[in-house]
Amino acid sequence: MIGQHLIQLAEVDSTNNYAAKLLATGNLKHGTVILAERQMAGKGQRGKVWSGSSGNQFTGTYFMETVFLSVEYLSVFNMSVALAVAEAIQVFTKESINIKWPNDVFVKNKKIAGILIETNWRDNRVASALVGIGVNIDPIPNVDHALSLSEISMKTPGKFEFLVEMSTKLNHYFDLLKIGEMELIKQAYLAKLWKKGLKLELIDVLNKENFIGEIVGVDSQGGVLISTENGLKVFHNHEISFELNYDKN
Ligand code: BTN
Repeated sequence: MIGQHLIQLAEVDSTNNYAAKLLATGNLKHGTVILAERQMAGKGQRGKVWSGSSGNQFTGTYFMETVFLSVEYLSVFNMSVALAVAEAIQVFTKESINIKWPNDVFVKNKKIAGILIETNWRDNRVASALVGIGVNIDPIPNVDHALSLSEISMKTPGKFEFLVEMSTKLNHYFDLLKIGEMELIKQAYLAKLWKKGLKLELIDVLNKENFIGEIVGVDSQGGVLISTENGLKVFHNHEISFELNYDKN
C-alpha cells in the first residue's frame, strides 16, 4: 500500500533528496511517504526552487517500486500522479481542479500544486519512482499565480487529513497502472486538461515567438498536441509556455 510507512520530519532540505539518500542506502520500502513540515531547499521542475519554508504547504515524497512499468509508459505514470493530486485536492473544494500540461495542478488560472517525479530505470523498466508533491495549503505570499486550498475550501484540511486522501488516490491509480489501464488513465487526464479546446496565446520558447493555438491532446510520449494555423504541432516540456494565460496575484 502506498502511504503505509510514514517518515515525518520537522525540517529538511528537500523530501525528494531525503528519500534519494535513503534509497541509496537500501533503507526505503515501497509505499513509504516522507512528509516534512518545512523544506528549506525544495526542488521544483527543471532545476527551479520550490519555495515555501514557512510550513504553509503539504510537502511530501512517496517512494514507489514500479518495475512492472515499461519506460514507454512513463508519461502515463506521470499523468496518473497528476490525476491523483488533482482528485485529492478536489475532495476539499467545489472549485473545478484541472491539470496544466504536463503535471501542474491548477484552479482557475492559478497553480495550487506541483509535482516532481524522479525515476530510476533498469532494463527498459521504470524500477522505482520518487514522487514529490507540493500542495499549497495556506496562502503563499509573493508568488505569482499561486492559490492555496484555504482560499477555495470551506474547511481547510490539516496536513494529515490531506495525506490520507492523497495516499488513497495514489493507490487507486497505482492499481490501474498495474493492471494496464493506460487508456483509461489517459482519458481521465485529457478530461481534466486545463484550457483544452480553447484558443490561447502561447509562446514558442525555442523560437521565441508568440502564436495562437489550441490544446487538442497529448501524444504517446506525453508531448502536448497544439492545433495552430500552420497545422498540428507537438511540443515537449520546456518548449512551450502558457504563462500569458495565468492570473497574476
Ligand atoms: C514544480 O511545480 O516545479 C514541482 C514542485 C515539486 C515540489 C515538491 S514539494 C515535495 C517534494 N520535495 C521537493 O524538493 N520537491 C517536491
